[in-house]
Amino acid sequence: MYGLLLESVMHFGQCEYGEDIWERILEHAGCKTTVFSTHLQYDDNILITLASSCSAIVGKGDKEDHLMFFGRCFVRFFSNYGYDKLIRVTGRHFCEFLSEVDNLHSQMRFSFPRMRSPSMVLRSVDADGACLQYRSSRFGFTHYLVGQLLQIARDLYNMTLLVSVKEEVIKDDTIAVTFRLDFDNREFLQDQLAKRTEIQRVELPQITLQKLVRLFSLSLSNLPSPPTSFLLQSSFSYILLPHDLISPLFHVPFPS
Ligand code: HEM
Repeated sequence: MYGLLLESVMHFGQCEYGEDIWERILEHAGCKTTVFSTHLQYDDNILITLASSCSAIVGKGDKEDHLMFFGRCFVRFFSNYGYDKLIRVTGRHFCEFLSEVDNLHSQMRFSFPRMRSPSMVLRSVDADGACLQYRSSRFGFTHYLVGQLLQIARDLYNMTLLVSVKEEVIKDDTIAVTFRLDFDNREFLQDQLAKRTEIQRVELPQITLQKLVRLFSLSLSNLPSPPTSFLLQSSFSYILLPHDLISPLFHVPFPS
């Protein structure tokens, strides 16, 4: 993994535990490197081993508690780099941020081209929170993510969040974790409802079906790949027309 994550641990670990204890933690973890470069890659295990050593040396909290602390450190650290602004622009609500985490990581690809970023998908939302699914090819980072979420909720959304792990499934080389996130989500739902009502109220002029098909047949004739054209055909026939009316209008090449 990239050094950015380890840098944050080094910085806040020393502040939290004090220089002497931090030295002992590093020694216990067999961590010879103490200066990590943001854009260099290191072994994923360093971070996990450091969490175990914190637990062993500090004597308070288990490995998971310290991983959670490391997740919190990451958020405090990246805010110093100005990355918190990227989170703020995802929207006013915590839920909007949650649905944008994958995009945030994609934007990071320019700075961290070889990153193996996790994926996060909002499975459901309700007035009392949401269900989030996290998938990763890295194992052991569940509590790290919990720490990140707690810190972001506190620092950037000024709210209290409760996180519980509902399910953890390991299949092949991937781990999928479903979290229940409890927080006050009423404002987000109200905003969504207001947006939907607004769209329903917009009155657009009627146009004939022939005009619409003439418009789209141009782009349909230039479709780049068979799967796209197939998908479009299905959508069109579902939304607009019976299948036999739309199929003569464009050609769907199937792979031979
Ligand atoms: C906006 C600033 C962010 C930056 C610059 C950033 C950058 C990174 C980088 C460089 C990695 C290491 C990937 C690798 O080396 O292959 C990483 C991993 C990770 N990031 Fe982010 N990230 C950001 C935001 C977030 C947010 C908001 C979350 C979730 C709340 C998140 C969750 C994670 C997790 C859980 C991992 C490691 C575990 C895994 O790979 O499954 N990151 N991130």
